[in-house]
Amino acid sequence: MENIAVVTGASSGIGAATARRLAAEGFHVVAVARRADRLDALVKEIGSGATAVECDVTSDESVARLAETVSGLGTLTLLVNNAGGARGADPVSAGSVDDWQWMYDVNVLGTLRVTKALLPALEASGAGTIVTIGSTASFVVYEGGGGYTAAKHAQTALVGTLRLELSGKPVRVIEVDPGMVRTDEFALNRFDGDQSKADAVYAGVKEPLIADDIADIVAFAATRPHHVNIDRLVVRPIAQAAQHKVHREK
Ligand SMILES: NC(=O)c1ccc[n+]([C@@H]2O[C@H](COP(=O)([O-])OP(=O)(O)OC[C@H]3O[C@@H](n4cnc5c(N)ncnc54)[C@H](OP(=O)(O)O)[C@@H]3O)[C@@H](O)[C@H]2O)c1
Repeated sequence: MENIAVVTGASSGIGAATARRLAAEGFHVVAVARRADRLDALVKEIGSGATAVECDVTSDESVARLAETVSGLGTLTLLVNNAGGARGADPVSAGSVDDWQWMYDVNVLGTLRVTKALLPALEASGAGTIVTIGSTASFVVYEGGGGYTAAKHAQTALVGTLRLELSGKPVRVIEVDPGMVRTDEFALNRFDGDQSKADAVYAGVKEPLIADDIADIVAFAATRPHHVNIDRLVVRPIAQAAQHKVHREK
């Protein structure tokens, strides 16, 4: 029986690309998200190497059901905490409490819930790995990004704390922090479905990262010999030398 990898937020973008890639690496992938139709299509495409589990990471009951399903599948060695996202670009002075709440719930408490639920199985495997998708927003702040950067900073605090607390246990804790990745939904969700605002994020950027680039990094980090722990990997497109320094072609 293959090793199991759980990927949250697998219905689109980075999560879907990671699920495909990890299946190609030989994992049996458990693809997790709320949109079951998309997961079913992904699992069909991957074939026998994947299982879809509809799950809302903001719900205790839903995550408990996920853990139960996973326990019946085999040996869990990898968890990719990817479900997350941004909502809104308001300045702090006009920040939407609902948006901030949503970002904290999904990015931070979602990571907490799923990690807690699956940690016993990862530990029992004797060689577990947790990869969490943070962001460059996990360590810088920018105007209009208060809610997202606060949530991603908090997610990083969770990851760093967990690594310390698992010292001596057979579970390594890895964080991948992408810069600008062009995915279909991330910016669209951030700007409440406004396609022109979403497109403006990537305007003139010759080659933003794509989801497959991050899937590649996750697969690399997760397939090193188990004593090798890549604490944190920051990855940006060459056009983004820093958060505010984005080269745009005219
Ligand atoms: N794109 C970027 O530029 C970028 C840069 C740095 C970091 N990131 C991070 O990378 C991760 C993925 O981003 P992406 O660009 O691939 O975005 P995306 O395409 O919007 O994907 C977000 C995923 O999260 C899932 N999700 C949202 N709420 C959920 C919930 N309550 N329960 C379960 N799943 C939930 C969504 O699935 P459902 O809606 O079907 O539930 C979707 O599959 C996020 O953590 C994001 O913060 C993205």
